[in-house]
Amino acid sequence: MIGVALLGSGAIAAVHADAYGQLAHLCEVRAVCDLYKDKAQALIDKKGMRRAVACGDIDEVLNMDGIDAVSVCLPPDVHASVTIKALRAGRHVLVEKPMAASLEECDAMIEAARDSGKILSPVAQNRFKTPNSKVKAMIESGAAGRTLYATVNSLWWRGGNYYDIWWRGTWEKECGGCFTSHAVHHLDLLLWMLGKPERVTAVITNVGHDNSECEDLGVAILEYPGMLAQVSSSLVSHDEKQEIILQTTCGRLSVPWETAASKALPNGFPEENGEAKTELQSLYDSLPELRTEGHAAQIDNFLAAIVGTESPLVIAEEGRDAIELIMAIYKASVTRTPVTLPIGRGDAFYSRETMAAAMPRFHKKTRSVENFATSDITLGRDVGK
Ligand SMILES: NC(=O)c1ccc[n+]([C@@H]2O[C@H](COP(=O)([O-])OP(=O)(O)OC[C@H]3O[C@@H](n4cnc5c(N)ncnc54)[C@H](O)[C@@H]3O)[C@@H](O)[C@H]2O)c1
Repeated sequence: MIGVALLGSGAIAAVHADAYGQLAHLCEVRAVCDLYKDKAQALIDKKGMRRAVACGDIDEVLNMDGIDAVSVCLPPDVHASVTIKALRAGRHVLVEKPMAASLEECDAMIEAARDSGKILSPVAQNRFKTPNSKVKAMIESGAAGRTLYATVNSLWWRGGNYYDIWWRGTWEKECGGCFTSHAVHHLDLLLWMLGKPERVTAVITNVGHDNSECEDLGVAILEYPGMLAQVSSSLVSHDEKQEIILQTTCGRLSVPWETAASKALPNGFPEENGEAKTELQSLYDSLPELRTEGHAAQIDNFLAAIVGTESPLVIAEEGRDAIELIMAIYKASVTRTPVTLPIGRGDAFYSRETMAAAMPRFHKKTRSVENFATSDITLGRDVGK
């Protein structure tokens, strides 16, 4: 039985608790830790984690016997320090997105994982959604042709009071705006499906959230050899209609799933290519549905990796790739100049303090509450439909 501790007992910790609960034949949550110990106890009670103790101090948890793995469900500014401490204490780590506040922190985490021999897996639960996995397989096999143009609509809606929680809305603690906290899901999927771009151009702004220093809207253009990707990242989109659309040499593939294919009339105008469309649809239909999805599926894989029966499907280097892309987007938007990857160690956008110093403060954060009355959250409408 793998002993688990939840570090943080807020909104996403509840999702981890449910996932570990579904895997009760493999693991047991033995501790829940939060700055607010009563909140940790409340989560234990709510989720019926009878073998778990509530703690108010992470060091105390890392010194407890019987803890093999931790889920880091804390604000982004402490992801790196807590992960490194946990790895050095010999624990396997599943760390929530964004993996860390900077590339420098990601590299220190990767080094700590290597030195400890323990597993470090950043959360990317949307990879474990059937439509995303099918579209990825279709692209990877080459059966759906070569991608020419990707459109990614990472469109979310959050009220102004979303930023009233104490750690959100600052470069120091949340470590970014909608690209870091929301579009990171879609950027990870894009990197997973299509790989890293060569160059990035971007614009960011804040149009609707006056209690946040960081961006709530932005557009990035990613250049690949023979392909462009366009990423919109928004917190002001009422319908939260999220999409990844890949236009390939064979047709359209998208999540939510929809396909289309065109062929040319003698004058070059399009008409539907029914045969190609049917082929794409049949290929999609022939691919397997995932048995488990989302956090439960990633946590299942994380536990299997701990006992050595599977390899981790999301590795630390991939969490780093998403942070590198976000840093390139921030750098391009601030310098108003295209940024060529990779971002090296000497770059201001490699380290947290120099990156934060370079970023605009769109607004001053003036309102701060310790906790909201509810921990209920939604995890994206269409990320994996
Ligand atoms: N994968 C997803 O879809 C998803 C969704 C939501 C949030 N997240 C990520 O999860 C992380 C947490 O977000 P959340 O929405 O659960 O936030 P939250 O505010 O609801 O919960 C965070 C908890 O951490 C506690 N905490 C903060 N600093 C601490 C410390 N030093 N020691 C102990 N406890 C501490 C807080 O008191 C709070 O209860 C963030 O990185 C966020 O981006 C991921």
